[in-house]
Amino acid sequence: MSDQLRVFFAADLSPEARACAGEAVERLKPAAPTGVRWVAAGNQHVTLKFLGEIHEGHVDRLVERAGAKLAGVAPFEVSLAGFGAFPSAREARVLWLGIARGAGALAKLARKLDAAAKVAGAERDRRPFAAHLTLGRLREPARIELERLAPPDSVAWTVSEVVLYESRLAPGGARYVPLARLPLGAGEGDPNDEFAPEH
Ligand code: 2AM
Repeated sequence: MSDQLRVFFAADLSPEARACAGEAVERLKPAAPTGVRWVAAGNQHVTLKFLGEIHEGHVDRLVERAGAKLAGVAPFEVSLAGFGAFPSAREARVLWLGIARGAGALAKLARKLDAAAKVAGAERDRRPFAAHLTLGRLREPARIELERLAPPDSVAWTVSEVVLYESRLAPGGARYVPLARLPLGAGEGDPNDEFAPEH
């Protein structure tokens, strides 16, 4: 058996936000090309840091390092914004909902987790973090008209923990298994963190 795990950190949605995102997907479907692989409602999350394959033996120290960095961050509110596409609506590969409230706070978490991921040997992110909720992925890039789609209802929820997920790839789609839940605001945090640059 392999001792490598494919892992990422994410913020989960509240049940209300999940329902909202589900409605948004139904509104998006008629505007989307065929062949989009939609993310199952239960799998939707806001990715904060994708580490890729790490050694199983590095999980504990990763959780410890990330936990220390997150302990000093207070829980905060986030809310969903309108539709978007990566890299662009003209050549869409990823269809997503943006984040209205809390995007800056999510970016701060992403920076901390990017720094913490070093202890597991993960590479630093070269691209700047852009908070989003992936709804679907396209095999071939395609044009999509997003302008006329009404954004989802403005539902807000509190991010009070970060989840370390293992992504188990399977023919029917990835299964995300929570490995650890790291609470925000659990303590003093790492005193050096206030002053140390995250990148
Ligand atoms: P995204 O969908 O939020 O854009 C689990 O695979 C999560 O890790 C996905 O939701 C995906 O982000 C994110 N991720 C980032 N880079 C990835 C990569 N190179 N391969 C797979 N997933 C990646």
